[in-house]
Amino acid sequence: MLALRCHDTGDLTTGLTVEEIPDPVPGPGQVLVEVQAASVEFVDTLIARGGYQVALPVPFTPGFNAAGVVREVGPGVTRFGVGDRVHGMVPGAFAERALAGEGQLRPTPAGLSADLACLTGATYRTAYDALVSTARLRPGEDLVILGASGAVGSAAITIGKALGARVVACASTAAKLEFCRALGADELVEYTRPDLKQTLKDVCGGSADVVLDLVGGDFSEPALRAVGYGGRFVVVGFAAGSIPRVPLNLVLLKGSTITGYEIGDFERHHPEQARANRDELEAMFVDGRVKPPITGRYPLRDAAAAMRLVAGRDKYGMTILEVAAPGPLA
Ligand SMILES: NC(=O)c1ccc[n+]([C@@H]2O[C@H](COP(=O)([O-])OP(=O)(O)OC[C@H]3O[C@@H](n4cnc5c(N)ncnc54)[C@H](OP(=O)(O)O)[C@@H]3O)[C@@H](O)[C@H]2O)c1
Repeated sequence: MLALRCHDTGDLTTGLTVEEIPDPVPGPGQVLVEVQAASVEFVDTLIARGGYQVALPVPFTPGFNAAGVVREVGPGVTRFGVGDRVHGMVPGAFAERALAGEGQLRPTPAGLSADLACLTGATYRTAYDALVSTARLRPGEDLVILGASGAVGSAAITIGKALGARVVACASTAAKLEFCRALGADELVEYTRPDLKQTLKDVCGGSADVVLDLVGGDFSEPALRAVGYGGRFVVVGFAAGSIPRVPLNLVLLKGSTITGYEIGDFERHHPEQARANRDELEAMFVDGRVKPPITGRYPLRDAAAAMRLVAGRDKYGMTILEVAAPGPLA
């Protein structure tokens, strides 16, 4: 089968090649998935660049989030059979076939296409859990998103709008902000301009209710200063590469909350909530309340180029690999 292989972490140009490798064989409790679509995430590029806290031994096949069809099941697998449509955590997803633990897969509901299903495992799940369960976002509230044009940010725009929030999208260029507007953002803020705190207060009519911080760096503190009494500031990522330090008197003065979301920890500590959130998220996809902005679609043979795009800053929305030709709704 064809797979993207990482032979050398640190270099996304020469370190990644698409090549033939043997099909994996499912062991006990494992499912062999015929991959139809896989989501290319920022974390995949971090791992392939050797910049993640967990290092994988080379060579390895990148990718963790996929949707496809069960091709074979290992001993002891009871929940899935050959031909079932599935999606979820599929390590080595950037390949024609990949193994997943039975417990890491979900059945793909009728009406949910593979290209959308592969986004529910990390990008959309992060935005949904962080807004619904961590920030407890309510209809009518002002939601400020730092890094709004990126994958999680643009997912958060669409979910925020579906939940009835007033969305303030923050990004670094006018073109990225136009993209956010097309997704439904109510207010646009070029956050690299001076006085972010006052700009946010002005567009929020006084103060922000919720800040979703995907970027960190120099933007976090002014955004925290724009949060009003009882507001919630949710730390999700540090795309800018630096972790800000903030004066804690800001929280005392505002009666506000700084909290964090991490996908694996959330699932470990709140398994039932995590499951219910995914059910609702998938329902939102199926009935069209949320329309994911997939801006990059690459065949498997161009997977390295997709990785380079996602690793850089010059991109919008979500990027996927279309590995196998899907059927009408597969
Ligand atoms: N906690 C979790 O469980 C979890 C889950 C998923 C992702 N994350 C993290 O959340 C962050 C966002 O993820 P994502 O998938 O949305 O990433 P993404 O698509 O790359 O978007 C990140 C955004 O950050 C902004 N940015 C600011 N400085 C940047 C820089 N120096 N380089 C690149 N981008 C920069 C960019 O927008 P502008 O150009 O407009 O500034 C970009 O749109 C990442 O740090 C990711 O690791 C965390």
